[in-house]
Amino acid sequence: MLLRGCKIMKQGEVRRALMVATVICLFLFIYLYWQQSSRPLQALVLTYKHVYTSNKKIHPRQWTWLCVNQRCERHHITENVKIESLSTCSMLCGSTQLWPQPTGPVTLGSKAIIFNHQQFSLQVLASGPAKALVKEAFSAFNDSVLSLVRNNNYLKEKTDFDRFIVRVTVVRGDVIRLKLRTDESYSLTLKPRDSEIVANITAKTYFGARHGLETLSQLIWWDEYAGHAGALKIIKGATIQDAPAFPYRGLMVDTARNFMSIESLKRVLVGMAANKLNVFHWHITDSQSFPLVLPSVPQLSSSGSYSPQETYSPEEVKAIVEFARIRGIRTILEIDVPAHAGNGWTWGQREGLGDLAVCVNERPWSLYCGEPPCGQLNPENPNVYDVLEKIYRDLLELTGETEIFHLGGDEVNLECWAQHMQKSNTPNNYTDLHDLWGEFTLKALARLQQANGGEKIPKVIVWSSKLSKRPYITKYLDRNTTIVQSWGSSQWPDTPDLLADDYKILISHVDAWYLDCGFGRWRETGEAACDPYRPWQTVYNHRPWQQMRLDKKHIIGGEVCLWSEQVDESSLDSRLWPRAAAFAERIWTDPQLDMTTYTIQEDVYTRLNTQRERLVSRGLKAEALWPSWCSQNPGMCL
Ligand SMILES: *[C@@H]1O[C@H](CO)[C@@H](O)[C@H](O)[C@H]1NC(C)=O
Ligand SMILES: *[C@@H]1O[C@H](CO)[C@@H](O)[C@H](O)[C@H]1NC(C)=O
Ligand SMILES: *[C@@H]1O[C@H](CO)[C@@H](O)[C@H](O)[C@H]1NC(C)=O
Ligand SMILES: *[C@@H]1O[C@H](CO)[C@@H](O)[C@H](O)[C@H]1NC(C)=O
Repeated sequence: MLLRGCKIMKQGEVRRALMVATVICLFLFIYLYWQQSSRPLQALVLTYKHVYTSNKKIHPRQWTWLCVNQRCERHHITENVKIESLSTCSMLCGSTQLWPQPTGPVTLGSKAIIFNHQQFSLQVLASGPAKALVKEAFSAFNDSVLSLVRNNNYLKEKTDFDRFIVRVTVVRGDVIRLKLRTDESYSLTLKPRDSEIVANITAKTYFGARHGLETLSQLIWWDEYAGHAGALKIIKGATIQDAPAFPYRGLMVDTARNFMSIESLKRVLVGMAANKLNVFHWHITDSQSFPLVLPSVPQLSSSGSYSPQETYSPEEVKAIVEFARIRGIRTILEIDVPAHAGNGWTWGQREGLGDLAVCVNERPWSLYCGEPPCGQLNPENPNVYDVLEKIYRDLLELTGETEIFHLGGDEVNLECWAQHMQKSNTPNNYTDLHDLWGEFTLKALARLQQANGGEKIPKVIVWSSKLSKRPYITKYLDRNTTIVQSWGSSQWPDTPDLLADDYKILISHVDAWYLDCGFGRWRETGEAACDPYRPWQTVYNHRPWQQMRLDKKHIIGGEVCLWSEQVDESSLDSRLWPRAAAFAERIWTDPQLDMTTYTIQEDVYTRLNTQRERLVSRGLKAEALWPSWCSQNPGMCL
């Protein structure tokens, strides 16, 4: 009828009608576009995925899973078969779905019960400042649980209990800063009691209690087949005892080669917390850019950031430090010196301080540095040390971190200094410029102590380098206070040499724990980028203390590194996850390695896949492990 009506309309009328329709469409389009772009970006990124699909009918169901010989088997739904979702089957059948696997005894019940988040009731037994932190951690826990919910109607479902009590006991309520010796152990029991289900988390410190909440969140899942709309479920009973294998479980992100927004860094911290990683090493500046706004030396960012928008204000850094602390993570800011410093350091001449940095943006770059652009602090300019002291004072203030300090010390190029001395007619009093580097390090350390009110910082991390080798190491680096971050290949002699010399080390072997490698070249000249890609199995199977028979006593832990030459926030999540999760189980649980076959057990695949799905529901764009078919058919892809 309508078409017919159209036909009868005169040509002019048709044109007019079309015009009106076009205008209406245009307005509608502009309105919708404005609606979308006026929403703050952060809301799009970090709001946990509350994808409430209200008014939706029951999902059509195609498959059911049956637990057969400790594995979930996929079957077509037929008349007489029991209907169970994959999530419920895998939580109750065979291995646990915990990640990282606890190091102590675990017993889990074989039944599930339905609850909803409105039944949560937190009871904190802690004196002192830890009490407030537990409340914050609980709020993050609540967010994690809510991220699982796929249908808002779920609150209408009947639940099996009236209340879900989470009781958290912290023995040392005064401990609110993570240190290397902080006890991070916890115990968790989950029991039904009358009309309540009670989760009892007990820990020596806040940091253990927080891990307990993280584990509790892993006993909870979304069952899309439950009731009419789906429901949250939890295992009906559990006892778990757990403590980490290593005290330092780090993840480094570089925000200088490419800038990463605060919101994207919060996602990194959400992922770290979910995997019980506890040190966020923020490599915040480099020779390419200086995005950190320092109150005492604002010239560094104003002359070195990519743009005024691509900076971190002191308030933003403090917010990250606090966001991390609530999640059991300490933040270590690294301003690498004397090398990896160029852009940002160019204002010395203008302000009468002389050259603070030399070789800045010098070409051909390959003569003076490892990658363009070059730049290195000028060790013979005394003003450099005054600036460093101001920087250090600001850094200590921003993080409140006074146990560990990262000094940098990566990839110093002595040719850069030699050329500069020659060009500027500076007398070169050194037969070996390593001594100039060593003296720079001692002076920087003295200024760090000054900045810390005259108190020595107990532990200073430096990247492994020529300076951390004999003969220089014993001359310039105190073995009581230095931690060497050993980043060379695991085949290099550095790591065993350092241990033989009684230095404490942090392992970041490039051949296993560098997550930036394997994405091809970003320049034509110079050494190739660090190909190949390190798959999660390589990350997981790296256990140098077993493979190289190293004494664990002096190994404080490990750190995965993400240098950012070829990554920014648009691919940050997928570059990190799930590989950093694989690292997390290595460093928390430290399972034995089968050194004859290097086979990874089936349950590791299954559990890591479950953990990866958790990260996705918490808003992280983690990479897929395998085809979904393998998730739906446990054990069939191995
Ligand atoms: C959990 O989060 C929801 C949604 O933000 C909120 O309504 C609820 O009060 C929170 N519950 C607790 C115990 O914090
Ligand atoms: C909670 O667990 C701790 C440690 O296992 C135990 O000592 C305590 O009695 C438990 N509390 C309750 C109320 O079950
Ligand atoms: C180098 O040695 C000369 C002569 O001993 C001395 O005057 C000068 O201060 C020294 N320069 C530096 C940078 O140490
Ligand atoms: C390092 O510690 C040892 C043992 O505590 C002590 O004897 C030594 O003097 C310290 N060395 C330095 C350089 O502080």
